[in-house]
Amino acid sequence: MVVGRCELVVDVRPRPLLLASLRFFWLLLASKMDRSLQTASPEETLALGRRLGASLCPGDVVALIGLYGAGKTTFVKGVAAGMGLDPRKVVSPTFVLMHRYDGGKIPLFHYDCHRIADPAEIVSLGLRDVAREGPVVLEWADQVATFLDPPLLEIRFGFTGENARELTFATDDPRLAEVAREL
Ligand SMILES: Nc1ncnc2c1ncn2[C@@H]1O[C@H](COP(=O)(O)OP(=O)(O)OP(=O)(O)O)[C@@H](O)[C@H]1O
Ligand SMILES: [Mg+2]
Repeated sequence: MVVGRCELVVDVRPRPLLLASLRFFWLLLASKMDRSLQTASPEETLALGRRLGASLCPGDVVALIGLYGAGKTTFVKGVAAGMGLDPRKVVSPTFVLMHRYDGGKIPLFHYDCHRIADPAEIVSLGLRDVAREGPVVLEWADQVATFLDPPLLEIRFGFTGENARELTFATDDPRLAEVAREL
């Protein structure tokens, strides 16, 4: 399946050994990506989310970690906008565990794990199966951290001022590392 920039290109030409090893070490480095970006307003956080949303693919799981008012939902609104979805429909799922947003090429699945009674519940939800249809973003992902398997993109939200936030991106996935590096 080809969705936006998510096309998987498999090059079957024989590759010189040196090139193959360089690629291997590049992937190894890429998978250890860790970077921080500052935003000075909600609009900037939204714009950052929009840039990420434009590059997300089915299968992607994005774990958001941060305290009340850190900007997680604001960021998800941006992600939705970047996927061609209506950001006004994005609100923290309070009475249900998950919201699904449709209207673009692929859906976005938005979880809020804050009020999850048993963290193990997230396993029975079959996140990876859900993500096959469209990317999954989880607010309060730290509440279910022990039940989340890689690969995923983790984003930590820190307060650096009244209207300033620091977003730290970390991932073990080479493609998501590349995406985060280009934000
Ligand atoms: N740089 C910023 N980025 C994001 N939000 C900001 C920023 N500066 C101020 N804000 C304000 O912080 C609040 C962030 O709210 P938001 O609902 O996105 O947080 P949240 O992390 O989802 O909180 P909760 O865990 O309660 O759901 C908003 O009121 C927003 O206007
Ligand atoms: Mg929220």
